[in-house]
This record gives sequence, structure tokens and C-alpha cells, in this order.
Amino acid sequence: MNPSPFDQHLFDRMVEIRRDLHRYPELAFEERRTAERVGAALDALGIPHRPVAGTGVVADLPGPAGVSVVALRADLDALPVTEETGLPFASVHDGVMHACGHDGHTAMLLGAAAYLQREETLPAPVRLIFQPAEETGTGAPALIEAGILDGVGLIFGGHLDRLYAAGQMVVTTGPVNASTDEFVIELSGPGGHAARPHESVDPIVAGSHLIAALQTLVSRTVDPTRAAVVSVGQFHAGTAPNVLARRARLDGTMRAQHPDVRRQLIEALHRTAEATAAAHGVSVTVRVVTGTPPVVNAPQPTALAHEAAVRAVGPEQLASLATQNMGGEDFGFYVERTAGCYVRIGARPAGESFPAHSSKFQFDERALAVGAAYFYHVALVAGRALAQRP
Ligand code: NI
Repeated sequence: MNPSPFDQHLFDRMVEIRRDLHRYPELAFEERRTAERVGAALDALGIPHRPVAGTGVVADLPGPAGVSVVALRADLDALPVTEETGLPFASVHDGVMHACGHDGHTAMLLGAAAYLQREETLPAPVRLIFQPAEETGTGAPALIEAGILDGVGLIFGGHLDRLYAAGQMVVTTGPVNASTDEFVIELSGPGGHAARPHESVDPIVAGSHLIAALQTLVSRTVDPTRAAVVSVGQFHAGTAPNVLARRARLDGTMRAQHPDVRRQLIEALHRTAEATAAAHGVSVTVRVVTGTPPVVNAPQPTALAHEAAVRAVGPEQLASLATQNMGGEDFGFYVERTAGCYVRIGARPAGESFPAHSSKFQFDERALAVGAAYFYHVALVAGRALAQRP
């Protein structure tokens, strides 16, 4: 099942790097050691690099003048999770774990860097992006702010995925990750005696109606063929059984796979909260904290990614998306601005598999060879496409 290209020595090196990063995981914007290891690996390949947005690392491989850049992106950060895998290279940092496979993403992009470095010439310049702080959704915006997309024509990224076997890849057009927006709704009144509700208003009853009403946002305002979620995760109110609460606070999250559905949900949230509050005579404030945009794969870069994946693993190893993914991914910030494609790289471990972000998350390390081969091919395939652009 070895992908093409495959180099045993390089594979062993990727595994070594991955396990080292796994043992010393670092949280968002704290990836100092991780960035230092990435820098050392690039030094060993003779690839110049520079820091970006604090703990990020970027390396530019030169190509012909006047051709736009192909960007390849990996993420560096771990999660605040206490590891329970029992692996010999398990995290030594208490309460921090690479539970999403970003250690693998980093290692495979370094593998691709090694392959690309062996090419005498590249059809287009290639930018290797080692991005901090994906888990907090703040790394990509920081890098964009620092100009990481300047000159970039196409951008590619991917994620290890336990739903597919190592050797398989998923390359699809359209949405592959949902937007993640959070909201805080505060309902308030003057408070009063619970035995005399007519003398006051009741933020708890208003909040209860509002929670039920918010469940109709998806079912009654969104196209049923377009996935979306509204969940209230927190509802806090009141101080005593015989006192009408002065305040009720609802915190929740909204997910959508299409930018227009995302806008629709935000609008409907405001409308429903304000109308429900008005119906109950309570005051209301609605705050939406926008998170990551949906990741939507555009057709042209996806066709290039598809070609690269076929070259890496063969057409019979391309799987279709098993299930819609409502998780977030800050790669959405890049594809909002620059055409790109985000793929899944099969990595199902032997035995029982645990979801990403679980304390027992593991992946099949053979996926590192697949990711490196894919990134290598997509840099060349997309580079040739950019070189032909007028
Ligand atoms: Ni992840």
C-alpha cells in the first residue's frame, strides 16, 4: 500500500519527527519547541525558513518568476487533553496532548518538503506553512494578517481521518467543514417576588421559550438539504427558588456548511431572540462571536487535488465522504480568500479507534507517507496549472 513516491528512510524520519512532537505537545501559540524542531528539520534539508505570527514557521521554495505560489499548510498545535493512549511516546506534558493528529500533519509536510527539495526545478514557487493555533481558530487569521497569502494562487491542506484506512484519501468539492460561531444571549428584568409574577417579568420563562424557539431555526428557516446545527450549551439563571431572576444567560454554538446558511442563522438568531424577549417583556442583548468560516472546496483546485491524490495512492484508493463533517477548521479563513482544497487522509489505527480530540486518539503512521506523497504531487500538479495561467 506504499504511496508513490515512497522512501523508507524518509518515512522512518517522519515517524521519528512525529513521535518526538507527540511526546512534547504544545498548545496554541505556545508551539515554541515544535517550531524549533520544524526549523531544525528544514535546516537539515537546506531549506531557508522564517518565523511568522510568533510560533508559526514558513518556508518558500523558489519557482519561476511571475508565477503565483502554491501554498501547503500543516498545523502545529495540540489540545488541552490528558493522554490515555499508553503509547511509548505518549505526552510528557501533563494535560496537553496531540489528540487531533497535528503532529502527523507537521511530519508529513516536512516529508513533502524533502521530496520537493529533490526536484531540480519547480513549476511554481511553493510556500510551506506550519501554522500555529488551529484548535483555537486563531492561527490562520494571524498568518493572513502577517501576509501569508500574498502571492498565493492556490492553497492545499488536509486532515488525518480515522474513518478511512491508511492509504485511502477523500477529495471532494463543496463544503467539508462547517462554520463555528458562538452566541451569548442575555435576558433581563427588574427581578421580584416569585409569588407575584404580575409585578415583574421573568427572564427564565422567556429564556425557556427562546431555547425551544431556537430549535426551529434549522428546521424552519434553513434549506433541509443543507446541514446546519444550533445548540444551546449553557443556560444560567436565578439565585433562589422564591425570587424571579434578574438575568438569564444562554450560550450556544451555530454550525453551517454554506456561507449563506451561516448568514441566515445569525440573522434568524437575532430576530428570534428579540421577538421572544419582546413577547415576554424582558430586555435582551444578543452577541455573536464569529469563529471559523466553513471550508468549501472550489471545483478547480479540487480537480488538481484529485489528480495529485490519484498520483499518490491510485484511483481505487479514493473514497467518498462517509459523513458530513460539522466540525470546524480554520483552513476556512484561507479558502474564503484564496481558492483551495482540503482533503482527508485515511489513518484508521489497528483495533478500536477513538475520535479526534479523545484522550485515546491514535492514528496509523503509514498515513504520514501518504500525506507526504500527496502534498508533493499537489505542489507539482497545482504548480503546473498556475504556470499556465496568463
Ligand atoms: Ni485537527
